Amino acid sequence: MKKILLTGGAGYIASHTNVELLKGDYELVLIDNYCNSCHEAIRRVEEISGRTVTFYQVDLMDQDALDQVFTQEPDIDSVIHFAALKAVGESVEKPLDYYSNNITGSLNLYQMMKKHGVSKIVFSSSATVYGDPDSIPVNETAAIRATNPYGHTKAMMEQILLDTAQAENWDVAILRYFNPVGAHHSGRIGEDPSYPNNLLPFVSQVAAGIREKVTVFGNDWPTPDGTGVRDYIHVVDLAQAHVKSIEKLAHSPGVHIYNIGTGRGYSVLEMITAFEAACGHSVPYAVGPRRPGDIAEVTGDPSKAEAELGWKAQLDLSSMVESAWQWQSQNPKGYSS
Ligand code: NAD
Ligand code: WQD
Repeated sequence: MKKILLTGGAGYIASHTNVELLKGDYELVLIDNYCNSCHEAIRRVEEISGRTVTFYQVDLMDQDALDQVFTQEPDIDSVIHFAALKAVGESVEKPLDYYSNNITGSLNLYQMMKKHGVSKIVFSSSATVYGDPDSIPVNETAAIRATNPYGHTKAMMEQILLDTAQAENWDVAILRYFNPVGAHHSGRIGEDPSYPNNLLPFVSQVAAGIREKVTVFGNDWPTPDGTGVRDYIHVVDLAQAHVKSIEKLAHSPGVHIYNIGTGRGYSVLEMITAFEAACGHSVPYAVGPRRPGDIAEVTGDPSKAEAELGWKAQLDLSSMVESAWQWQSQNPKGYSS
């Protein structure tokens, strides 16, 4: 069995990736400091998969603790690096926290990989590195021009990895996720934000009566219905892209960069309408001002991932919103329900 180390292993996307990896011939070692997650997510991954994982509560900022993990797990084949702070607004208010956690955390990880001879890594990047692209659907050759500290950390983490890959002969897959949404079909794992920064978790909480209404950030954008358009991707499809990336690195050396999205955009109003159909009642909303830093529309061209990874998103909008509602309604207080 190949041993995979997942940083941020208790988080939203990692928990779904764990489930997909555990269907295959992989042994998982997870590290997380629980700054945005909890152990219950890992317990439920074990429940869904019927398998156990090895877990270390370690902060990537703690290089000695990280060193010990690599020493105790000498046969790590590949790393999937999810751990990061990810809230755009918070990153504008606390840039030093973001640069410190995301950049220093990554540097520590890469140093330990080098020290312990681990040379394969899948990295969680984001469509945020493209900022407001000149044309859509954006492909992987588009200019990198992030517009906020969080996005800058992702662009820097990519660059550090590219330079290291070249110098150290590493094999790297950089996955630029578009807008991950939804949950595992069991309804046992999902996104559990204390305060939702993204559209769909907010809509879910309004649908559940936890919040009063959704504020639509502007209806005067140059889009068909005036609201922002994004490329939403089901988290289970996204999780499977990681499995395909691990398989890819096993036989294709070098650096690979992929957009992971569907290529299809939906507006804010389309998302709310789809959610209403899933939950069976209306979701109150009001149109407010544009959110600073927002863009009208972004979708990704996923054809490179299809051609080279053999990966293509399978799950449609109704699966995204139905699974999000199932998770929300079965776990009204998230993992502490
Ligand atoms: P998440 O917050 O659920 O998962 C990140 C995990 O990393 C959390 O469990 C957190 O506790 C952990 N973590 C953070 N800093 C750490 C540190 N210093 N040491 C150890 N653990 C640490 O977020 P997610 O949505 O699952 O995102 C996973 C990755 O995907 C992140 O790198 C994020 O930037 C990236 N990404 C997310 C989205 C999205 O919309 N969710 C989109 C594009 C990219
Ligand atoms: C989607 C659409 C909003 C909330 C962010 C990060 C990006 C990536 C994914 C990590 C936009 C509108 C939202 C609300 C609204 N994360 N909206 N009311 O901004 O595309 O991307 O998450 O890498 O880096 O920037 O996602 O879910 O915040 O917004 O009208 O309460 O919903 O204006 O059009 P975004 P989002």
